[in-house]
Amino acid sequence: MQQTLASKRILLGISGGIAAYKSADLVRRLKERGADVRVILTDAAQQFITPLTLQAVSGNPVSHSLLDPAAEAAMGHIELAKWADFILIAPASADVIARLAHGLANDLLTTCVLASAAPMAVAPAMNQQMYKNIATQKNIATLKEHNFHIFGPGSGAQACGDVGAGRMLEPLELTALTEQLFAPVKKLQGLRFTITAGPTREAIDPVRYISNHSSGKMGFALAEAAVKAGAQVTLISGPVQLATPAGVARIEVLSAEQMLEAALAAAVNSDVFIGCAAVADYRVAEIATDKLKKGNDNELQLKLIKNPDIIASVAALTQQRPFTVGFAAETRNVLDYARQKLLNKRLDMICANDVSGSQIGFNSEQNAVSVIWRGGELDLPVQPKQQLAEQLIALISQHYKT
Ligand code: PMT
Repeated sequence: MQQTLASKRILLGISGGIAAYKSADLVRRLKERGADVRVILTDAAQQFITPLTLQAVSGNPVSHSLLDPAAEAAMGHIELAKWADFILIAPASADVIARLAHGLANDLLTTCVLASAAPMAVAPAMNQQMYKNIATQKNIATLKEHNFHIFGPGSGAQACGDVGAGRMLEPLELTALTEQLFAPVKKLQGLRFTITAGPTREAIDPVRYISNHSSGKMGFALAEAAVKAGAQVTLISGPVQLATPAGVARIEVLSAEQMLEAALAAAVNSDVFIGCAAVADYRVAEIATDKLKKGNDNELQLKLIKNPDIIASVAALTQQRPFTVGFAAETRNVLDYARQKLLNKRLDMICANDVSGSQIGFNSEQNAVSVIWRGGELDLPVQPKQQLAEQLIALISQHYKT
């Protein structure tokens, strides 16, 4: 399950209505996506669902009374209001909608809403005639003016036997709408990225090759972050065991020469090129057509010749040259060597990557880089590769075309 709501703190307000029985499932769905969920029940809601159920599914104590000294001592209503990244009221009865529209603070839920600066949404749930009523419609219009999101309602058969608009949206629909609110802003809409990732593999004979420890994780994380930010992404990958991030077009290659061909073809149609692949600097001059046999000698000499420099070839394009970002994987003098590579390869930006330890860099879950460009440097500390990738993509989008 994608953690689209990872570490988001969601305060779920449940008011009185038959749809409250679905709230336990809603809590589960939000939690599955990584959210931390706390629940406030109104008095009426407790007639439909118990605090114990919601405490069990949310893993947090459930609040219901404004005037409960014990609950206030644990997490007071102001703390609860400040804790929330988002307040969702589902189901939102006609009564609670009316009270919110008029700024009442006569129970814990409405008090928290007034005391919070977090974004908020209501999911109306009521009889279709109550929903149509001009008073309810005016209250909903007021909530919209006050920047509430209105999730639903859905239409169909109602518990009371009526048919019409007023049903609470299903938990999965409410979860999807919540995810949309937290989805990253698509700042890179319309931009095309080409990203290289993974190692290259340089054949010695039909069964042996020269390669390195790159897992592809950093490059794949960059592709995922760019696509999430709205870019159209081509990922040119060496041989790795990773699934293609959703929405990314993947081109698989083995050798540096194959990667060069794919990179040049994609680069001329790209706005940004990121060379994250660990390209073998040398390849075997003559690949044996049959498996090399072990002779009597204790030595085997292989003649290696230089591979083309892919990123330097992209940066040297005179027409349709993309903004070109490289990585420099070094075990010593990391910043100096990275600065030299920025100049020698004529890059726009380079990420100096210390690969001397096993905690970051090659085949690890975490990474840290110093990003260098003409006129600036920024250290991005040790963190999961996905998070680092998001920061790098944000930085590239700031400097692209400046
Ligand atoms: O794949 P992971 O396990 O997640 O590890 C990530 C990583 C450590 C591989 C990555 O963060 C990284 O540092 N990638 C660059 C690796 C590398 O080859 O660095 P380099 O300093 O040798 O090369 C400098 C730049 O030139 C790189 O952008 C490289 O892609 C490019 N290059 C190098 C040689 C070559 N023949 N052609 C190139 O395009």
